[in-house]
Amino acid sequence: MTPASFDLTIRNGRISNADRTFHADIGVRDGVIVAIAPNLPPGTQDIDASGRWVLPGGIDSHCHIEQLSGMGVMCADDFYSGTVSAAFGGTTTILSFAAQHRNDSIPEVVQSYSRLAAEKAVIDYGFHLILTNPDETALREHLPKVIRDGITSLKVYMTYDKLKLDDYQLLEVMAVAGEEGALIMMHAENHDMIRWIAHRLLERGHVAPKFHAVAHDKLAESEATNRAIALARLADVPVLIVHVAGRETVEVIRNARQLGAAVYAESCPQYLFLEADDSDLPGVEGAKFCCSPPPRDVDSQEAVWDGLKDGTLGVYSSDHAPYRFDETGKLPKGDATTFKEMANGVPGIELRLPLLFSEGVMKGRISIEEFVALTATNHARMYGLAPRKGAIAVGADADIVLWDPERSVCVNAAMLHDNVGYTPYEGRVLQGWPEQVFSRGRCVVRDNALQVERGTGQYIARGRPDPLASRPTPSLERGRFSELVGLQRRD
Ligand code: URP
Ligand code: ZN
Ligand code: ZN
Repeated sequence: MTPASFDLTIRNGRISNADRTFHADIGVRDGVIVAIAPNLPPGTQDIDASGRWVLPGGIDSHCHIEQLSGMGVMCADDFYSGTVSAAFGGTTTILSFAAQHRNDSIPEVVQSYSRLAAEKAVIDYGFHLILTNPDETALREHLPKVIRDGITSLKVYMTYDKLKLDDYQLLEVMAVAGEEGALIMMHAENHDMIRWIAHRLLERGHVAPKFHAVAHDKLAESEATNRAIALARLADVPVLIVHVAGRETVEVIRNARQLGAAVYAESCPQYLFLEADDSDLPGVEGAKFCCSPPPRDVDSQEAVWDGLKDGTLGVYSSDHAPYRFDETGKLPKGDATTFKEMANGVPGIELRLPLLFSEGVMKGRISIEEFVALTATNHARMYGLAPRKGAIAVGADADIVLWDPERSVCVNAAMLHDNVGYTPYEGRVLQGWPEQVFSRGRCVVRDNALQVERGTGQYIARGRPDPLASRPTPSLERGRFSELVGLQRRD
């Protein structure tokens, strides 16, 4: 008997990439797609994908896993539960955070997250660095080293007492990012606006979770976004605004892009499917819906849909920030926890794709190609994972998900694989579900069961993010005073 040419053949599927949909078979060898054509010979594993939509595995480029928050609260998901949950939701690569706290040494932080993930992850992963202490050693020694080692994006914060950088520090970090070829991800909210509103609310006894959204006003988001863009233009670097929630913020970003600024942006399920009013519940129940920036209103949801459609918002991530609804997580003081003391963040790593598939693709708001771009291809380009990840193409990793568009699922927390214990999407009925999930040709999920062992995910050292590689629009500022102030580029 001659050996099969392929380890895996997926046949008769309806394949969608970001640019087109077509029918073909897929042949996989050694974890890589080696053929896409009709009537391929059978593989050792032979899958009939008739009636299924065959899509690139999702890339979730914003999730908090096994991370200590700025307020000192440990996430409920470790790299096992977090990646298992991701895989059941159709995601095959995550980019989570290696988070520096102010006294931490950056090399030790990276080493410790790397060890945790290597022991537990079931799908592929990489890291962004959260930078909270940009001292001279960090800027001149540690940042260049981690960027060259494949952590090619940095998240920085404009708010939270223990995380925030001031504008001067942001410019210093941006200058290094520009020099070394890393992408800046910005948490853009005006710290003093939030602090001022929160102080006055608490003084007046307004402590319930619903006041979180009042404190994190939409102006705090749009002002900080505008400032982040101005700082990035001054430093002549691209910037990616994460977790965009409000209409004004979408408009600030769209306007800057129309001017030619290298501004990119992300939004998340909570800004399409939740509202501030969801947190208006008795007692502390509303804490289940609180994240920063907060979900806003129907008008902002519409603006986020429009931004995802017209490219203003290029990536759709979960911002999975998993905290249990108890003293270990959301509610450090139990029922007496004020909105200011709650852990910020909502879970979403498993439902990110089913929510968008159901409410976006199945309801005709976005095309299946747009779905693929927003959930996989754009992440791969934006964060230096392409061409290995993000498309069904010869030479790419065989990260492939078979979706059943006919399957309807009523969401409940017990069916999910995270360690959170609740979901803000409880009771929603979703149309379409990821049925079989392959990571580098390995079947990770089939028959609603995990098929792989912990620690079988691989670390992905990333290349240069595309905004830095190709600079699609000429920078507005380049040359204005770059030489005078010593801004450099490692092209
Ligand atoms: O509320 C949120 N989004 N918490 C997670 C941390 C962050 O800023 O992304
Ligand atoms: Zn953030
Ligand atoms: Zn986040």
